[in-house]
Amino acid sequence: LEGIFAEPVLAGRRVLVTAGPTFEALDAVRGITNRSSGRQGWDIARAARDAGAEVTLVAGPTALRTPEGVRRIDVVSALEMHAAVMGELGQARAEGRPYELFFGVAAVADWRPADAFEGKWKKGASPEDPYRNVRWVQNPDILADVARSPFAPQAVVGFAAECASLEAYAREKLERKGARLIVANDVREAAGGTENRILIVSKDATQAFGPAPKRVVAEAVVKAAAAVLG
Ligand code: CTP
Ligand code: CA
Repeated sequence: LEGIFAEPVLAGRRVLVTAGPTFEALDAVRGITNRSSGRQGWDIARAARDAGAEVTLVAGPTALRTPEGVRRIDVVSALEMHAAVMGELGQARAEGRPYELFFGVAAVADWRPADAFEGKWKKGASPEDPYRNVRWVQNPDILADVARSPFAPQAVVGFAAECASLEAYAREKLERKGARLIVANDVREAAGGTENRILIVSKDATQAFGPAPKRVVAEAVVKAAAAVLG
């Protein structure tokens, strides 16, 4: 019933969403991830669907069920998420039905272990043990690469979960990544609760929204993004 009352601000539009954490392998059984539940991305995907969009969700490992009517592509690592997103953009363009809107909601690992070991590390005890000497390499920035791709959707929206200086960090990310909007929230406020409060930062404005139920916040974000599309 959810979608029945929503305004069809994205009727017929194609929308690509990343959501959830990524998992970066250390060896065959271990890796590094983060606490993202995927819920915010799921809320955005549902709100876009309810606004009439055709939605593809590129999802890191989560325990959530696929929202009804949404196409889901499962990935594990940041590199896989990057490849899936770029592949979708290129394929949609080749089909003559490009994505018009991108929401980067995923909590993408900034770094990955330089060389994941195929087997399982043993406990060991020497200074040469892999546990003590993980080398890290930076992952590609999916949002920035989407915004600067020749296949870039008309509007690219990023998210920023911060612990301090919300607006300043959001504005810095807007410029550095080339996004049209950055949606910022305070992780300490947002974590766990059912309500959320956000700032929607664009080149020449900052708009505060909430506190409101997370689903309502997602609708507001989708409306702001639809307004950019015109
Ligand atoms: N993002 C991305 N790919 C990455 C890192 C981040 O697409 N490798 C996206 C996130 O999905 C989010 C936005 O960029 O939409 C902001 O992520 P964030 O981690 O806040 O930005 P960083 O540039 O990684 O800065 P930092 O972690 O230092 O705050
Ligand atoms: Ca980061």
